[in-house]
Order: sequence, then structure tokens, then C-alpha cells
Amino acid sequence: MIKYLEKFQQFDLLTVHNQLSLGILKSGHVVLLYLGKRLGTEDLSYITKEIQRASYLADTDHTKDFKLEQYPLVWPTYGNPDMRTPAIHLQYPNGSRISDFRYKRHDIYPGKKKIAGLPASFGRRQVETLDLFLEDALTNVQVKVSISAFEAFDVFTQHIEIINRSIGKLAIERVMSLNLDFLRDDFDLMTLSGAWGRETHIKRNALKQGFQGIDSKRGASGHGQNPFMALLDKNTSEDQGKVYAVDLVYSGNFLAQAEVDMHQNTRLQIGIDPFDFHWQLDPDETFYSPEAVIVFAEAGLNQMSQRFHRFFEQCLIAPFHAEKTRPIILNNWEATYFNFNKELLLDLASKAQSVGIELFVLDDGWFGRRDGADSSLGDWVPYQEKIGGTLTELIQEINSIGLDFGLWVEPEMVSEKSRLFEEHPDWIIAVPNRIPQQVRDQYVLDISRKEVQDHLVEVLDELLTANNIRLLKWDMNRNVTDSYSRALTQERQQELGHRYILGLYRILDKITKKHPDVWIESCAGGGGRFDAGMLYYTPQIWTSDDTDAVERLQIQKGTAMVYPPSALSCHVSAVPNHQVGRITSIETRGIVAMQGILGYELNLLETTAEENQTIKEQIAYYKKYREIFQFGQLSVLPTYEQENATAWMKEKAGLVVVSYVQTLAKPNTVPKRLRLSGLIKEADYLLEGTKDSFKGSELMEIGLPLARPAIDYFAQQWVLRKQ
Ligand code: DGJ
Repeated sequence: MIKYLEKFQQFDLLTVHNQLSLGILKSGHVVLLYLGKRLGTEDLSYITKEIQRASYLADTDHTKDFKLEQYPLVWPTYGNPDMRTPAIHLQYPNGSRISDFRYKRHDIYPGKKKIAGLPASFGRRQVETLDLFLEDALTNVQVKVSISAFEAFDVFTQHIEIINRSIGKLAIERVMSLNLDFLRDDFDLMTLSGAWGRETHIKRNALKQGFQGIDSKRGASGHGQNPFMALLDKNTSEDQGKVYAVDLVYSGNFLAQAEVDMHQNTRLQIGIDPFDFHWQLDPDETFYSPEAVIVFAEAGLNQMSQRFHRFFEQCLIAPFHAEKTRPIILNNWEATYFNFNKELLLDLASKAQSVGIELFVLDDGWFGRRDGADSSLGDWVPYQEKIGGTLTELIQEINSIGLDFGLWVEPEMVSEKSRLFEEHPDWIIAVPNRIPQQVRDQYVLDISRKEVQDHLVEVLDELLTANNIRLLKWDMNRNVTDSYSRALTQERQQELGHRYILGLYRILDKITKKHPDVWIESCAGGGGRFDAGMLYYTPQIWTSDDTDAVERLQIQKGTAMVYPPSALSCHVSAVPNHQVGRITSIETRGIVAMQGILGYELNLLETTAEENQTIKEQIAYYKKYREIFQFGQLSVLPTYEQENATAWMKEKAGLVVVSYVQTLAKPNTVPKRLRLSGLIKEADYLLEGTKDSFKGSELMEIGLPLARPAIDYFAQQWVLRKQ
């Protein structure tokens, strides 16, 4: 619900538990009065009135001691007179970079409008939007700050529109999607970072004066950084403390930054990375920023994650897929890499079917003349000699074994050795007369160009129309170097990064609209583009190329901190693990992969009969509780030895599944108990497979007893039913 309190020049955006309040100062500048849990009061103007003056800052509008630089601004500009990092930086035709955006008018309405060309959340129920129109009186440029309150989800979203109502061209040098100013700096800063094979590791540090944050200049959100950032109270843990978190619905270059100023105020920003970004906005044109999602949680990180999960599942992912359980996959990549033939694929499929797997994904190597990574990307025609006939025939045979079929593609790329490159060498991103760089022997197609987008839409549409493909694995195995588009003029070259992403979204939009019942699993060499922008089109994402169960503990914990378990594709692979050489038990591998969408990626013809029996049991168990594993409310449980053990609890409609994995065995230790969270204190919970019943309070205060670790592994699961 959104209220405009005219008397106090204040907007209150209210959700079930939270509140975001904005105020309009007499000068017309808009300030963030409050973000937190609902207050139940009205006038908050005292918050800004009480700001004490600091020295050496400019007076605004010649008003003595009115120092805008000290205010918690919603839309700060540079140098008039705030000298902190602005949310927007425009350059006007006369070379001036000074803007001054003040309140002009506002609209409040039920629902939420789409953002042209960009993925964004949608309001299924109880969403209201405040559009604040700010104007620069000198140039007539308008900024629309559009904030939506999703009442039942305790989530706010914001995006920006810049409307050029001036008579000249504008250059946008920087536009953040969100700026949050806090009048304090006693926070910890949390980000998700890492590298290929080590994505989304949780990093937490105390804030200090100056800049801290993460960004991507790679043309994709990237393995090394995720477009998420949170400020945490010092005492915040899984189950207590305040969290102010933001996530960007965007898959390209981004910046997430916290700046602590000279007077212990914190400015949090998230948006398109201003590095190598320069957008020319002609008169009467509008620029749309990606959407930022804001989650405030008063009860710790689990509550924050649960709010993100519910919101992404119900207000971002295409409704057709959002609440459907995901099939159990066998992917042939780590089983065969490029070395397969029809017989092997069918044998694998039969074995997979016999243990309960539901869908077979044929990964890289089925097209062109692709026997290694050095050729054929772009030529999406079946390699008939290798797959023993047409793709349609192969799919029919897999279907007749009783499995659905999924296919790998990497549409954004082209190999030098390919027909497509021979025909369109100018379609790649490259600087004229400079040798373009290769990664994995491939180039990036310039999908900012409409003809390239249209070509890819046509090719993918043909594949999906001609064949019974239920899942498309959409990979992307390199980042953008040599950023230059032959289709853009000199002054528009720095628009390429954003135009590439707009092109990607246009292709995905067309394909998903034309084939709404095909699942797309996106992938970028693992989690190199695990973001809410991709989630809008692709309900599941391959979490990491590192399939080692122990490594996956950290990767999945970080990813599930923001993104729902129903989006995390997780596979049991062979041991010794192909990335790190570690040997873990099939039980541990199974329990870790069950925390997301369970799948398998190993040669089932080489596993022992005993292992296959365990796999069969794992799959049956997962199917029984699939709804809970994929859509249950996730709580990460504190463990006795944080570094050595990970535990999760998932709950849905009174059914609770608890999983525990210990990484290193230790001799002569006495197992401790595992305390659960978020249960109903007074309710009775029956431990499945026993006659033991516990009160919710007992399970949360005393906990479940852990068994003594087995010699070769230690992983344990429990199921509890609320009576
Ligand atoms: C990288 C992906 O992450 C893998 O799962 C696999 O699909 C390979 N690419 C295929 O080239």
C-alpha cells in the first residue's frame, strides 16, 4: 500500500512488515526518510530537520546551513552541491555535467508497468507503484523514479526512466537503478564473489570510509561477482539481525557499490556499470534502467533469502514454469564430453531411465563437425554421422525409452571454423584491423545487431519446431573482449555492452513466447550469468562447472542466499571429481545435489551395481520430497563446526526435510545436536520412520541428535511431519 501524506510531504510505501518512506524537502529534493520495519507513525520529517551541519560543505540554494551533501538523497546528482558519487551523470550539449533534479509531480497506481526491452518483476497480487517525476528546470530533462511495493512479499523494486524533453542530445555517463543513503556506517558489507568453478562465495567485511563493492566489465554478470549486495547489522547471522539487501535484474556489466562519506553516512548503489558506458539520448527519447530489488529483513539472512526466493518464484520467473517441479536430468557432458555416438547415448539413456531419471540432455558436440571445442559453433545443424541419423530420429528413440529430451546450444557464439563465420565474418564483436581475441577458439556474435538477433531466433525456432525438445540448455562460454560494434556509429560505441544485453533479452523473449512450454536452463561455463535477469526467461541455471560435492557446498550456499533452490541446477558427478580430483561418497554427492534441482552427470554404464542401486534410491527419495526440495522454505542451520559442516532445512505445508553434510572426518569426536529453525513452537512433529514426536520448541532449542560419522563419509537426512 502506498500513502501520500500531503501535510508532511511524505510517501509511505508499506508492505505487510516493512516500510519505505520518502520525503520532499522544501527545496524539492527527495530524501529517503526510512527503510525498515513498519513504524505505525506518520510524520518523519524530523529525521532530516535534525541533521547537524558539517564544515566545508556548500550551502544549497544560498540557504545558510542547508547542506544537501548531508542528506539521504533518493536521486543525487553531482556537484550541485553534493560531492559524493551521483546516481546520475549527464552531459549536456554545452559540455556541462551539472544537473539538479527536483520533485515535479507523482502518480500512485495499483499494479506495475513493464520496462521496455528489459526483464522485470510483475505484480500478481497486491502491488502498487509510485512514479516520482523529477525535473531539471534548466534543461527540461525528466527522471521518473518508479518504486513498487509488493505488499505480501515484503519487497520493493525500483527502476529509472530518463526522458529527454530538452532540445538537444544528452549523453548519459552514469545511471544507477537505485541509490540508498543511510545516515550511518556501522554495517558489514556482504557480496557474492569468486571465479570460474568457485562462484558466489559469501564475503563479509566491515564497512570503512571510501568505496567498496564489486562490478563486472566482462559483458556478463560474471563468475567473479554477482549483482547482489547487502548491508548487515554487526550482530546479523542466519537467524537474527537486520539486513538491507539489493539485487539487480540484469545480466550485463553492473556496479554494486557502498561509499562511506566523511561523516559516517553510507551510500549504496546498484546499476549498469558506468565504466565504458556512454549512452546518447536524442530529444524525446527515453532510457530505461534495469530494475533493482530491495529486501529488508529484520530477522537475519534466512529471512532475507526466503523473501528473495518467494519473490523471484512468484513475481519474476515466467508463471508457466515458476511453480512446476523440475525434472531429474542425466546430462552426458561429464559422462562423455565430445566422444559419443548414437549407441552410447541410447545405452546411457536406457540406464538413466532404469534408475528413475526423467530427461536426457545431449550436451555439446551434436552439431556441425564438432568433435572438440575448436569448431562449428554457429552451425546448428545435426552432425548426422556422429549421432547416427537425424536429430529427430535420435529424439524419438530417446523418447521411446521413456525419457524427455533436452539439447545444448551456445547461440551467442561462433567458431572461426564454421559456415556461419565464413558467411558473416563481420558479425563478430571485433575492432576493425585488430586481431580479435579468442577464448575456447570462439568469438562473440554482435547480438546488438537486429539481423544477428533475427538469425538466431530463426535458427532456434526451427530447431524447437522440428523436434520434440523439452529443455534447451543455453550456454555462454566466454566474455566479451574487443568491445566494438561495426553497426554502431563512433559516438555510440560505448552503448554496445547494454545493447548486447538488450539483444539477448529480445532473442530470449521471442523464443520463450513462441515456445512457452520449453524449459531453458541457462549456463555460462557454470554460474557466469546467474542473475535475476536470466531467471526471468530461464527458470533454472547451471550453478557451477565445479561438480565436486564439497566445493558445491559453498557455491550453492552463496547462490541460494539470493536465488531460489528451484533455480539451482545441481548434478551428481563421477569420482575422482573431474575438477578437483576429490573422492566423496555417492551419498554425500546425492544429498548436496538434492539441495537444488537434482540431476546426474556421470557415466552410469561405468558405475557399480551398488552405486546404481544407491542412485535409484536417491532418485526415489528426491521424487517423494521433490516439492519440498525445490519449493520448500529454505533455512540454513547453524552447525557446531561452521567450517566443517553445512546443514539446511526445507519446509512446506508442515513437511520438513533436514540435510546435514560434514566435510572432514575427525577421530574421537562426540556428535552434537542440530537445532532447527522457523518451526511452530507448540506443534508436534513426527520423525518419519520412527514413532518419535517432538515439539517445535524442542527441535529449535535442543535439536536433532547427529549420528557418529561413518569412516568414509558423513551425511544425514531426516524428514519430519507436523501433526
Ligand atoms: C560449459 C558448461 O558449463 C558445461 O556444462 C558444458 O555444457 C560445456 N560448456 C560444454 O561445452
